[in-house]
Amino acid sequence: MNLLVIGSGGREHALVTKLKENVEVQKIYCVPGNPGITKIAECVELDIMDNAALVAFAKAHQIKLTVVGPEMPLSNGIVDAFKANGLACFGPTQAAARIESSKTFAKQLMEKYDIPTAKFAVFNHAEQAKEYIRAQGAPVVVKADGLAAGKGVVVAMTIEEALAAVDMIMCDSVFGEAGSQVVIEEFLVGEEASILAFTDGKTIIPMVAAQDHKRVYDQDQGPNTGGMGAYAPAPVITPAISEQVMKEIFQPTVNAMKSEGCPYSGCLYLGLIMTADGPKVIEFNARFGDPETQVVLPLLDSDLVTIMQGCIEGTLADVSVNWKNEAAVCVVLAAGGYPEKYDKGDIITGIDEAEQQGSYVFHAGTASHENQVVTNGGRVLGVTATAFDIRQGVDKVYQAIAKIKFKDMHYRKDIAYRAIKSR
Ligand code: AMP
Ligand code: GLY
Repeated sequence: MNLLVIGSGGREHALVTKLKENVEVQKIYCVPGNPGITKIAECVELDIMDNAALVAFAKAHQIKLTVVGPEMPLSNGIVDAFKANGLACFGPTQAAARIESSKTFAKQLMEKYDIPTAKFAVFNHAEQAKEYIRAQGAPVVVKADGLAAGKGVVVAMTIEEALAAVDMIMCDSVFGEAGSQVVIEEFLVGEEASILAFTDGKTIIPMVAAQDHKRVYDQDQGPNTGGMGAYAPAPVITPAISEQVMKEIFQPTVNAMKSEGCPYSGCLYLGLIMTADGPKVIEFNARFGDPETQVVLPLLDSDLVTIMQGCIEGTLADVSVNWKNEAAVCVVLAAGGYPEKYDKGDIITGIDEAEQQGSYVFHAGTASHENQVVTNGGRVLGVTATAFDIRQGVDKVYQAIAKIKFKDMHYRKDIAYRAIKSR
């Protein structure tokens, strides 16, 4: 059987790696892929937002299953287009992907169905938003309604910061249409975790809980990034909390989406904060998280193709999903300057040596140039080690990283520190 994966980051490299374990898989194509993925799949230059071209490609290459990584093609209706052509595509429809593409939709859904989340209000006019902020006081959280590549959220510690965020999002239109509406949210305090789950629209099966590290420097200092590393399982999600999340968040959300006429199938990403009042939703994403996927999938002890087919066919209840009794740690190697301005085109060495030590080296921002792998993005590589426990995983991953070099490379030295501390 032939598969198609859409996307080009570390998440997609991890997806292709896992999907390839199925012995019936003959060939995996990846659009557009990256130099790491090229070693295990055929990378194809197509526009990931061109549904007609992707459908035509899938038909021409007898694709049995398509897996969508990023949110943009999902909110662009790729799953609807594939379905309309009788093609199996893992992910939510355009209507269901609103759980990520419209924060207003997600918040109103949670309000209507009593799913625990931060208190909020939605505004279409900057002045009203500002009035509300002045009345609420700080800290407060300001979010652009639409997709803003993870940059549409401002956690404001002062009223002035919050007012400036409204100006940036609504008046300066930094995010275009995505910022024509803002959500103002109560500031929640507590440890964060991400739980990804497989669902077919009825049954929902959570994956091992992960924690990512959004700040660029050690001890959670410096600006937010797309994610500097992750680990799983996250001990903050105890079995009791996991059960509570299932009962109060996951199952009600899947039921709510069905009741709203847009059943959700695919991977549902839950970002939550463990508040003193219990777990509350900070966001839903309509896709696998990155870098979380780079630690979660290496721990999966079941066949990913079968699970995804179960999600598409509505038979997930009959599929067994098992996890290895191990831990995984992923450290992101970033380009000098990231998350601000950074160089591209620097030669990367030592990837093979790191892999020979038994670690995964997932490519995120790399390119091929004259037979060498060079940097081509802010987050360049995700190195993942699995081990008996988190501490051993940490030791193993940093040993692997010691083999890899490129100019001005930087990374966090404290990935998983919370898990190690909590022991
Ligand atoms: P999001 O893009 O919604 O995941 O938000 C990015 C980050 O902002 C989250 O990972 C949190 O650290 C923080 N954040 C978002 N919403 C809240 C909230 N209501 N209270 C506190 N922090 C938040
Ligand atoms: N790691 C956060 C995300 O994938 O949105």
